[in-house]
Amino acid sequence: MASQQLIKKLEETIENFPDFPIPGIQFKDISPIFLDPKLYEEVIADLTAFSKGKVDAVCGIESRGYLFGIAIAVALEVPFILIRKKGKLPPPIISEQYDLEYGSAEIETREGQIKKGQRILIHDDLLATGGTTEAAAKLVEKQGATVSQFSFLIGLKDLKGEERLKKFGAEIYNILEY
Ligand code: PRP
Ligand code: MG
Repeated sequence: MASQQLIKKLEETIENFPDFPIPGIQFKDISPIFLDPKLYEEVIADLTAFSKGKVDAVCGIESRGYLFGIAIAVALEVPFILIRKKGKLPPPIISEQYDLEYGSAEIETREGQIKKGQRILIHDDLLATGGTTEAAAKLVEKQGATVSQFSFLIGLKDLKGEERLKKFGAEIYNILEY
């Protein structure tokens, strides 16, 4: 969906750091995107086009999933729901444990913000092993909503995150693939 021009510009802008934060991890620093408002706008337009008319709400995953997720939700004119790391939200909450590319973690949402029957877009900056997004999708389903779409800026193909998400039967989109 994204133009070759947008893909090329993003590839030039995102910085790669081998062996950060631990050996074997290839860290992709997306922060230079935010130095270029025009490029940021193009990213949001592309991610918004993917979800236009297809979702009732957007769930973004702390923290880098917020950087694009809120802007997508505003552009779609639908609610944005924060999926946060453990211990940040007051009760009642719903939580889910997951394994990270490095370490393990738990994510939470406020109970009641995701409504029964809603079609949900889960957005994050990066799909690596899929552990984070899989946990987010389970949170969504626990609340009686449907995961209709997943979107990411970047998908790391070798880590097979997409395969882990297949069971949710949702569309999956990433602008860049490595
Ligand atoms: C990174 C990234 C994704 C997740 C992808 O977040 O932003 O959320 O890891 O990994 P996975 O597909 O293997 O689960 P991280 O937990 O490092 O935190 P941050 O977004 O707060 O920087
Ligand atoms: Mg993250």
